[in-house]
Amino acid sequence: MNLKIDYKSDYNPWFNSKYYHILYKDRDDNEAKKFILNLTQYLDLSKKASILDAACGKGRHSIEIEKLGYRVTGIDLSTNSINHAKKFENSNLKFFVHDILIPFGEKFDAVFNLFTSFGYYNRDKDIQTLSSINENLKENGIGVIDFLNIYDVRKKLVKKEEVKKEGIHFDISRKITKKTIQKTISFNDNSKNFTFKESVNYLDLNDFKKYFIETNLEIIEVFGDYELNKFDKNISSRLIILFKKKSRSN
Ligand SMILES: C[S@@+](CC[C@H](N)C(=O)[O-])C[C@H]1O[C@@H](n2cnc3c(N)ncnc32)[C@H](O)[C@@H]1O
Repeated sequence: MNLKIDYKSDYNPWFNSKYYHILYKDRDDNEAKKFILNLTQYLDLSKKASILDAACGKGRHSIEIEKLGYRVTGIDLSTNSINHAKKFENSNLKFFVHDILIPFGEKFDAVFNLFTSFGYYNRDKDIQTLSSINENLKENGIGVIDFLNIYDVRKKLVKKEEVKKEGIHFDISRKITKKTIQKTISFNDNSKNFTFKESVNYLDLNDFKKYFIETNLEIIEVFGDYELNKFDKNISSRLIILFKKKSRSN
């Protein structure tokens, strides 16, 4: 595979803004906790296993994984999120500002990419991200991507929404294009107008299958929600793909 590596990642500053954390301050940590419990039970990793939480945000999953006894490294490009996460560090839990498109330089028993932390860039960079995850996996390591189910998003799309958090009135609009799911967030704070955009690639299981072929990875299992029910594109809320390095005999 001849892959051109581009080290500049068009990182979206929205993820590092204080407003991102205000808008999403009520993220469901219990749901994250339950998912981690279900996932680690399913994977049945040894207690000594090392796990990379790629695009860990403020570390809510990493913290739960470490509590279960694993060694965890969390990486994210948001310096603000990593500074927050670092408050929870201990000898088995470390956080770094690092780009998930670039291999971390260490091999892990599992690499997790959770809560739609994939697909923010172009196709080449999606491939680059998967190659980087592959590079970070030990020979028998397991990768997990927890992505949205685009069919569910399409079905439930709320085109316009107003959300008030910490005195800020966020106007949110959503649209689906051929290639992306887009959210525009506008608000005023201290008499200043702000507009941010979130855009994630419109990827379904077949798109991921093509990506995996290109990056020498193979799918082991596909779940459709945090209870780990089987994926069904018509009813699942999530697209959770478990994968490993392609075996040499294939
Ligand atoms: C939807 S948030 C999810 C964060 C975390 N996994 C969680 O569940 O709370 C997506 C995260 O991806 C991070 N991110 C986006 N592009 C990245 C990149 N190239 N390298 C590292 N992190 C990245 C953002 O900073 C943000 O924290």
